[in-house]
Amino acid sequence: MTTISSELRPFNRLLLTGAAGGLGKVLRERLRPYANILRLSDIGEMAPAAGPHEEVVRCDLADKAAVHQLIEGVDAILHFGGVSVERPFEEILGANICGVFHVYEAARRHGVKRVVFASSNHVIGFYKQDEHLDANCLRRPDGYYGLSKSYGEDMASFYFDRYGIETVSIRIGSSFPEPANRRMMSTWLSYDDLTHLLERCLYTENVGHTVVYGMSDNRDVWWDNSQAAHLGFKPKDSSEVFRDKVEAQPMPAADDPARIYQGGAFVAAGPFGDD
Ligand SMILES: NC(=O)c1ccc[n+]([C@@H]2O[C@H](COP(=O)([O-])OP(=O)(O)OC[C@H]3O[C@@H](n4cnc5c(N)ncnc54)[C@H](O)[C@@H]3O)[C@@H](O)[C@H]2O)c1
Repeated sequence: MTTISSELRPFNRLLLTGAAGGLGKVLRERLRPYANILRLSDIGEMAPAAGPHEEVVRCDLADKAAVHQLIEGVDAILHFGGVSVERPFEEILGANICGVFHVYEAARRHGVKRVVFASSNHVIGFYKQDEHLDANCLRRPDGYYGLSKSYGEDMASFYFDRYGIETVSIRIGSSFPEPANRRMMSTWLSYDDLTHLLERCLYTENVGHTVVYGMSDNRDVWWDNSQAAHLGFKPKDSSEVFRDKVEAQPMPAADDPARIYQGGAFVAAGPFGDD
């Protein structure tokens, strides 16, 4: 169970989109101390049904009116919903492109002032693994999914400049129970470190639009979080404890994108719809 520092006051109502997903299920438990009421939303079914201090709302992010209703009465939004892998553009469009617009527009209309946006390392996936990046690097999306997250970051930036809605965009590396391959030795983000990072994203004042790389304290990293130092994110875990297990796997071929690009196999997905 996550504990919340005594200096922090829980939000009255926090919204988590994507609550039926892999990270959503993990965060449903871990976000509890941060809100009097946690509103959980997804297009898919959320089991179990709402427990104490929870509200469960089925909602398609592509449906503007439904998203408008969803956001009424919330104090901050953790936007994790959407298509989370590379897919044909038409499948990404509703959930990720229209969806992120609907979330920000509803936030503006309902006066929500803080969003945490689950962006992705796939906004910079076409950089090579020997390149070191900070938050100001040019984005090099590795597919339609990465493009949609890049658009989401631009949406966040615009809604801050125009309407003062603050966002932390987390370029999440690989947040799973453990790193599954060599690439994830660099990109892994433990669930404990993710939870700590979300706390910092919710409570740090004056974030404007901050971009932070979501990674644990791994040995060999490609990303530099000095531009997000004001968040005070101090990861405690490291992929190092999994090294022997991961390196027991066969080494990918020298020309395998998993070995060359930061985005790994995503850079080689598609093309779609040639038939
Ligand atoms: N897990 C990671 O390592 C990782 C890495 C980078 C970015 N992210 C981002 O973090 C978020 C959560 O990732 P995850 O691994 O839990 O993904 P996931 O695919 O398990 O969860 C995403 C959820 O969004 C929901 N969704 C899809 N389309 C929707 C729509 N139109 N309306 C409402 N809900 C919709 C899905 O039903 C799903 O439950 C995603 O935005 C993903 O892009 C995750």
